[in-house]
Amino acid sequence: MGKRESKIIKSISEVNQMNILITGGAGYIASHLTKQLLEDSTYNITILDNLSTGYIDTITTLKSIRDFEFVDMDLKEFDKISNFLKSSNFDIIFHFGAYILVEESISNPLKYYMNNTVNTTNLINCAINSGVKKFVFSSTATLYGDVENIPKDGLNEDLPTNPINPYGTSKLMSEQVLIDSAKANSDFRFVIFRYFNVAGADIYYNENGELSPRFGQRLKNATHLIKVASQSALGIRDKMAIFGDDYDTIDGSGVRDYIHVDDLASAHIKAIDYLDNISNPSDIFNIGYGKGFSVKEVISTMKSVSGVDFRVDMEGRRDGDPAILIANNSKIKAKMSWQPKYDDLELICKSAYEWERSR
Ligand code: UD1
Repeated sequence: MGKRESKIIKSISEVNQMNILITGGAGYIASHLTKQLLEDSTYNITILDNLSTGYIDTITTLKSIRDFEFVDMDLKEFDKISNFLKSSNFDIIFHFGAYILVEESISNPLKYYMNNTVNTTNLINCAINSGVKKFVFSSTATLYGDVENIPKDGLNEDLPTNPINPYGTSKLMSEQVLIDSAKANSDFRFVIFRYFNVAGADIYYNENGELSPRFGQRLKNATHLIKVASQSALGIRDKMAIFGDDYDTIDGSGVRDYIHVDDLASAHIKAIDYLDNISNPSDIFNIGYGKGFSVKEVISTMKSVSGVDFRVDMEGRRDGDPAILIANNSKIKAKMSWQPKYDDLELICKSAYEWERSR
């Protein structure tokens, strides 16, 4: 190919590139999405993150896949966010930047309302004012709360919401801001994903064929079951606890729908196609595998993949924890043709363990 031809091809691909902004891109879930997006050169990616919980070396590792723009900015700096969006030309925003710990949200609710609701509202406002037409929002299954009559096929999107912790409420309020804003601005559309329990780490095999994740959950004070269990297996913690064994579940411990982070990330790419079709309306999608595992089952799987029989104590229930959360995922499968690839608790635990081991 001659120089001139390659120049023409380059400029055509630049013209067709989709400009994507990812807030919180140095974080756990967003880094997995970014990794997948970087593999497709038609996406022009910008990450905005204040590195409060994300890490600069996550950005560096992502940049080793393909270079992109990184903006170190805090969502609470309203003027800066407004100017930044006005001077850019984003086709779509993926908004991940948020706090995520249920317990912390109970002891420090304003931290959650300020960031997850106030800053998100500002971002939506700035997005609309600067002509961004598509918005993908990370929400949570926590906002279903304790559902009394759980449908046999899992929680669907039409169930009433009833968050039992400020984290869930902070996300629910942002959902409402999006819904009302899209009603009033007909060319602004959104996808809301209500995540069930995201777990595991980057499915990446090194030259020796070993599972060797480059990205994973790095939150210092993370309280997530699978992270805590992998740290216990590695001796980073000397023990862990089961929070409650008196729930009305198969073995008394809490039941959750654990979804591998790479499958969750791939749903976000499906959301791009979904919103590209102008006849698709703004909508809410639950995302999980549609099956649940108890805390005890998860711990025994971690023990078996790690080969370590770590110490587990029984404790009382943790505040703000519903008994069972299992997704009905038929809507996302039907409307976005999303198909999971890693629906396997052993692989989820193994990848989380290998990630933690590599730290
Ligand atoms: C998780 C997420 C939340 C997300 C929600 C979606 C946290 C830390 N994580 O909440 O961001 O929006 O899913 O549904 O909030 N458990 C133990 N011992 C432990 C840790 C956990 O027994 O050391 C139990 C919990 O009581 C619960 C289950 O394990 O029954 C899962 O807990 P966790 O991983 O913290 O997630 P969720 O609280 O479900």
